[in-house]
Amino acid sequence: FMNKRPIIIDTDPGIDDAVAIAIALFSGELDVRLLTTVAGNVSLDKVTYNTLRLLQFYGKEVPVAKGADAPLIRPFLDASNVHGASGMEGFDFEEPDDHLLLKENAAEAMRRVILESDRPVTLVPIAPLTNIALLLKTFPEVKGNIDEIVMMGGSAARGNKGVMSEFNVATDPEAAKIVFDAGLPIVMAGLDVGWKALVLPEDSAKLPAMGEVGRMAYCLFQKYRGGSMKTGLKMYDSCAIAYLLDPGMYQMEETTVDVELSGSMTAGCTLVDLKGYLGKPHNAKVCMDIDQDRFRTWFLNGIEKCV
Ligand code: RIB
Ligand code: CA
Repeated sequence: FMNKRPIIIDTDPGIDDAVAIAIALFSGELDVRLLTTVAGNVSLDKVTYNTLRLLQFYGKEVPVAKGADAPLIRPFLDASNVHGASGMEGFDFEEPDDHLLLKENAAEAMRRVILESDRPVTLVPIAPLTNIALLLKTFPEVKGNIDEIVMMGGSAARGNKGVMSEFNVATDPEAAKIVFDAGLPIVMAGLDVGWKALVLPEDSAKLPAMGEVGRMAYCLFQKYRGGSMKTGLKMYDSCAIAYLLDPGMYQMEETTVDVELSGSMTAGCTLVDLKGYLGKPHNAKVCMDIDQDRFRTWFLNGIEKCV
């Protein structure tokens, strides 16, 4: 792939982030220009440290920019119950140095990378959307060189943080609303497919033989509480990468998505308005279903390419 697709990944590693980033970096089809970090699974400092540890382990020289240490308005609540205290329990990474860490913050770095790019850049947020909201509000001039936003987030149905809210959107609902209302092309890979993007026991068993990254993934998966080894591990963030590399695995709906902000029990709920009750223009393509076997094959092939 001579002209690899330029992307920026906004992330909060996070065990599922870790393997999604690996598959993107080693795919040969994506030009990962920048990684930006945001408070989500664990604190900003921890997710940034984890990002640097991953890049050192993968041997990839991708610049990293630190972003928001908390949601725009609401208090920060992490998901260390799912990823462990460090956010990436289960594997002993070498200590990273911070030569990849930029002095710019996430919004500044994304603005520079987007405006410098000779081709429109795809934003791939797989974390709360605080950085993306700050970018679009602070530097709206970037919109002209953004191809689309392909996010892991939201849910057309039930939640995994609140009854009706998915973690990335529920962590910062105001940021999510800013992004969905920004007028940019959006692809939403939510829980509807994240819950079905499962690595089953027979898949996990193959990982240790798949080289260093496979072994690392296997170790992290022992500690990952997004599902279970037995019932299947939910590869939420890989769903966004899978859309970039093999969109045919999805059944998509072009529709309207809005975000509840004031519900005392439903704040952070993404209303996927398939019947147009809200009377608003379409603003997103939503992944409504996934070919589970095709995902599993894609995922294992993606890890196998991490050499
Ligand atoms: O709801 C799943 C999302 O929350 C994923 O991005 C996972 O990494 C966690 O951040
Ligand atoms: Ca994530």
